[in-house]
Amino acid sequence: MSTSLLDRVNAALATANDPEIKRPITDLGMVESVEVDGPGVVRVTVLLTVSGCPMKDTITRDVNAAVRAVSGVTDVELTLGVMSAEQRAGLKELLNNGKTQRDITFAQPGSLTKVFAIASGKGGVGKSSVTVNLALAMAGQGLKVGVVDADIYGHSVPAMLGVADAKPTQVEDLIMPVPTESGVSVISIGMLKPRRDQVVAWRGPMLDRALVQMLADVYWGDLDVLLLDLPPGTGDVAISLGQHLPNAEVVVVTTPQEAAAEVAERAGTMASMMHQRVVGVVENMSYLPCPHCAAAGEDHRLEVFGSGGGERVAATLTQRFGYDVPVLGRVPLDVALREGGDSGTPIIESHPTSAAAVVLQSIADSLAGRNRGLAGMQLGLTPAGRL
Ligand SMILES: Nc1ncnc2c1ncn2[C@@H]1O[C@H](COP(=O)(O)OP(=O)(O)O)[C@@H](O)[C@H]1O
Ligand SMILES: [Mg+2]
Ligand SMILES: [Zn+2]
Repeated sequence: MSTSLLDRVNAALATANDPEIKRPITDLGMVESVEVDGPGVVRVTVLLTVSGCPMKDTITRDVNAAVRAVSGVTDVELTLGVMSAEQRAGLKELLNNGKTQRDITFAQPGSLTKVFAIASGKGGVGKSSVTVNLALAMAGQGLKVGVVDADIYGHSVPAMLGVADAKPTQVEDLIMPVPTESGVSVISIGMLKPRRDQVVAWRGPMLDRALVQMLADVYWGDLDVLLLDLPPGTGDVAISLGQHLPNAEVVVVTTPQEAAAEVAERAGTMASMMHQRVVGVVENMSYLPCPHCAAAGEDHRLEVFGSGGGERVAATLTQRFGYDVPVLGRVPLDVALREGGDSGTPIIESHPTSAAAVVLQSIADSLAGRNRGLAGMQLGLTPAGRL
């Protein structure tokens, strides 16, 4: 009787994932002991990877819930311990697949992860807002999504995803990405700074090192999609990215107002230098739906920042590269989008039926569903046509 209860408890424990590693705690050597005592009292000791693990509460909640759901269990006594240095080294080796030297898995020839670099000509056009909403939109479709916030001028992505002050857990020198409520994992260059208020001039080799760290030293697991929020313009990050992730595809975010030539120049130059394909343009802050007319059921758009910017950037890039660079979508101005960013609940989640969320979802769907084909390979020359 108690043996089968123990079996059922073990099976239940195998359904509890480590929130950062996203694998069963039973596979990770985190369950130190399980005992059934008397009629239905279960004693479990779970080892955290590091002391003061930020995921402590989540693990406690999930393990309790999993074990309590087992029929015959009347009470759970959960004890949390911490892995020894040796156990941690073992876990690290397990996560590294036994390798000591880490590579950027996304850049490996057989990688199935789609990598999108979100670029813009300048700041403030909504690059980060677009990035986080695309991430959530894709995650909502069941995809495993990671976000790298590589914007050295303002790392707003963690706050927009509701994990503003999160510090990543480290297992030896392996960094765990920060999980969000919505299932997206995130790492920000801001998290690599020793202190929040410390000003770091991310340049050249140091920046390159930080980028490699976010790609190779972070345990991403098997992602379907990796989104990178790039700093605006071109520069050191673009050069590093081209070297380390030549298969990344570029999405350019612009407003209707920006000078098309300039945006295309800045965002497009890096893509062409690095042979990265520009897969499309997102026009953000496209228009403001007129509230009066909307109330009357009519579609009247106020073009606050002018019109046609996205179209012009797309046309300029199409001409320059010789392949079709489409406008992927026009995202309207929406107070809820701004508020969602400020409160850490992106509009895709807070107002999924709003016009802005619907457009963002359709952009996400078309990016995620795009056939990889030649776009995923570095040809070293400009592809002649669109696939
Ligand atoms: N479509 C939109 N409607 C309303 N506010 C927006 C929209 N897009 C962006 N914003 C707001 O504009 C500001 C700048 O956006 P952000 O995504 O941080 O730009 P970037 O990353 O390009 O600097 C933020 O406060 C954001 O909430
Ligand atoms: Mg930003
Ligand atoms: Zn009107």
